Amino acid sequence: MTKPCQQVDRATTTTTISNYSKKHQKRTNISLLMISCYSPKLSIFILAICVSLFILFQIQSLQISTSPSPSPSWPSFIPQFHKLSTNCTRDLHYSTMAEKLRHSVTFLPLKDLRYSDKALQGHTWFMSSMYDSHEEGEVQFQQFPSKSSMGRLLCLKGRDTHDGSWNYYALTWSETLPFNATLMKGLTFISYNHYNYENIWHGLSAMVPFVAWHKRYGCETPNRWVLYHWGELRLGIGLWLTNLMGATFNEDPIIERFEGINEDEAVCFEKAVVMRHNEGGMSRERRMEVYDLMRCKARVHCNVSMEGRDSKFIGMTLFMRSGPRSFKNESAVVDIFERECAKFDGCRLMVAYSYNLTFCQQVTLMSKTDILVSPHGAQLTNMFLMNRNSSVMEFFPKGWLKLAGVGQYVYHWIASWSGMRHQGAWRDPDGENCTFPEDDRRCMSLYKNGRIGFNETYFSDWARNVLTEIKTRKLEEESQNGSASTSYQCACG
Ligand SMILES: *[C@@H]1O[C@H](CO)[C@@H](O)[C@H](O)[C@H]1NC(C)=O
Ligand SMILES: *[C@@H]1O[C@H](CO)[C@@H](O)[C@H](O)[C@H]1NC(C)=O
Ligand SMILES: *[C@@H]1O[C@H](CO)[C@@H](O)[C@H](O)[C@H]1NC(C)=O
Ligand SMILES: *[C@@H]1O[C@H](CO)[C@@H](O)[C@H](O)[C@H]1NC(C)=O
Ligand SMILES: *[C@@H]1O[C@H](CO)[C@@H](O)[C@H](O)[C@H]1NC(C)=O
Ligand SMILES: *[C@@H]1O[C@H](CO)[C@@H](O)[C@H](O)[C@H]1NC(C)=O
Ligand SMILES: *[C@@H]1O[C@H](CO)[C@@H](O)[C@H](O)[C@H]1NC(C)=O
Ligand SMILES: *[C@@H]1O[C@H](CO)[C@@H](O)[C@H](O)[C@H]1NC(C)=O
Ligand SMILES: *[C@@H]1O[C@H](CO)[C@@H](O)[C@H](O)[C@H]1NC(C)=O
Repeated sequence: MTKPCQQVDRATTTTTISNYSKKHQKRTNISLLMISCYSPKLSIFILAICVSLFILFQIQSLQISTSPSPSPSWPSFIPQFHKLSTNCTRDLHYSTMAEKLRHSVTFLPLKDLRYSDKALQGHTWFMSSMYDSHEEGEVQFQQFPSKSSMGRLLCLKGRDTHDGSWNYYALTWSETLPFNATLMKGLTFISYNHYNYENIWHGLSAMVPFVAWHKRYGCETPNRWVLYHWGELRLGIGLWLTNLMGATFNEDPIIERFEGINEDEAVCFEKAVVMRHNEGGMSRERRMEVYDLMRCKARVHCNVSMEGRDSKFIGMTLFMRSGPRSFKNESAVVDIFERECAKFDGCRLMVAYSYNLTFCQQVTLMSKTDILVSPHGAQLTNMFLMNRNSSVMEFFPKGWLKLAGVGQYVYHWIASWSGMRHQGAWRDPDGENCTFPEDDRRCMSLYKNGRIGFNETYFSDWARNVLTEIKTRKLEEESQNGSASTSYQCACG
């Protein structure tokens, strides 16, 4: 603000003029023709004066209309006013303009109702006027302040937990914060999730891009998280995720609730990073690095030691569920896998129930697991905590293939993203008999919570094939000397 007067931003002015002259070339040519019957020198002089005056008059509206900002409604004319001032008392102008700006910070709804029915078709109706920065293969995000925000901070009036169109966002400079706004210091992560943060899979998907950003841009850790679902404020994440994020960032996440802040008063963030696309746009390599980082940090946090591991050791874990999608006859399933495991030197079968393990018990168990055997369900999200290249065997009750939609493949995806090998799925041909035809959607409510039987021949053959593959890989690794390293250094310390 206190720059000397001469520092007019020539670059901007020049672009504006060249934009201007391109647009208005026709009109300029006509004037030239009219004037050219007089002395050419005089005509050019007059023309220059006229054009300059015209530009000066037009410059304000022009700059608004050619502004690259996606939302011209923001008061972007102030810096230009500032530049054009030829009077060295501009600070006075500036402070009155700043005062006006503080009154005119424009808040738009977080949830843009125009796109609310297209939420999943890729249109970002959350903060719909903003664009993400995106480099090929990297995480997509918005950062405030930044070059693309023209140095403006992000402000929210966003406490509503029931309707995202009653929550608002705005951009403004730190000198022109709205009246009575609270400035939150440090780094704030702002997440938009189309699903539920309590759900381990959907919650993790929402957190992954922040970990990617953290890893890529200097390992900075957040001071707080602001969570939105459909533009509605959410006040918590599940326990497992809290633990995972706590391990990843070295401290438990603080979820902002905007307590003690009036509904109509804004909160502005010194530095904010906004994610709206989960892992979208990230290459497989980048995703694997993020899972590597979380695995590594979780093991450090839980004091998991990889020292003294026998290189012949093969851990096979039956990760059981209770209730929906549990095995109907657990002991029969355990027997089958136990028998196959016993045929392999170094194989050890472990049976665990996800619902009564603590986070660190799960981390420890997964660090010893080379083959994870488990029904379709949230507990499978733990798979990325195994060493890379470990295997997953998944089980479905009857009816899912036809009716459960694309969501049934999420554990194929996470296996691919975290560098695991999904060894396919067994789908129970038997189960509840639906009164409608088998591919009728109404049957899904019956199949959804179905339980899972077994096929001894199939399970035995399958287990043997996977065990053989693991055994072969371990022998190869051993002969290549030490890819199964015992100590690890996490990215980001
Ligand atoms: C600059 O502006 C101030 C206040 O607006 C005015 O008093 C002063 O005369 C102006 N100076 C010139 C050189 O225009
Ligand atoms: C700021 O808060 C004070 C005290 O709560 C109130 O009197 C004032 O009107 C507020 N200002 C604006 C611009 O809302
Ligand atoms: C890990 O070990 C450290 C020091 O030995 C201890 O303070 C910490 O509580 C342990 N953490 C867990 C999760 O056991
Ligand atoms: C479970 O399977 C075993 C082996 O096939 C069988 O002996 C046992 O009766 C079954 N248990 C139940 C409860 O069906
Ligand atoms: C977990 O549940 C299983 C079966 O209900 C039980 O045998 C086991 O002792 C439990 N483990 C813990 C740590 O509570
Ligand atoms: C996983 O397997 C691939 C292909 O066999 C191999 O190139 C890679 O080094 C393995 N990664 C680890 C961490 O063992
Ligand atoms: C479903 O029907 C089949 C054959 O019609 C029968 O064998 C099976 O026991 C039935 N399943 C249930 C759960 O009733
Ligand atoms: C069990 O699986 C085998 C293939 O592995 C198949 O041939 C057989 O028909 C299956 N048995 C039943 C009862 O579905
Ligand atoms: C493995 O590598 C270490 C050094 O990195 C070497 O001392 C050792 O002899 C190697 N072992 C085999 C079996 O190649």
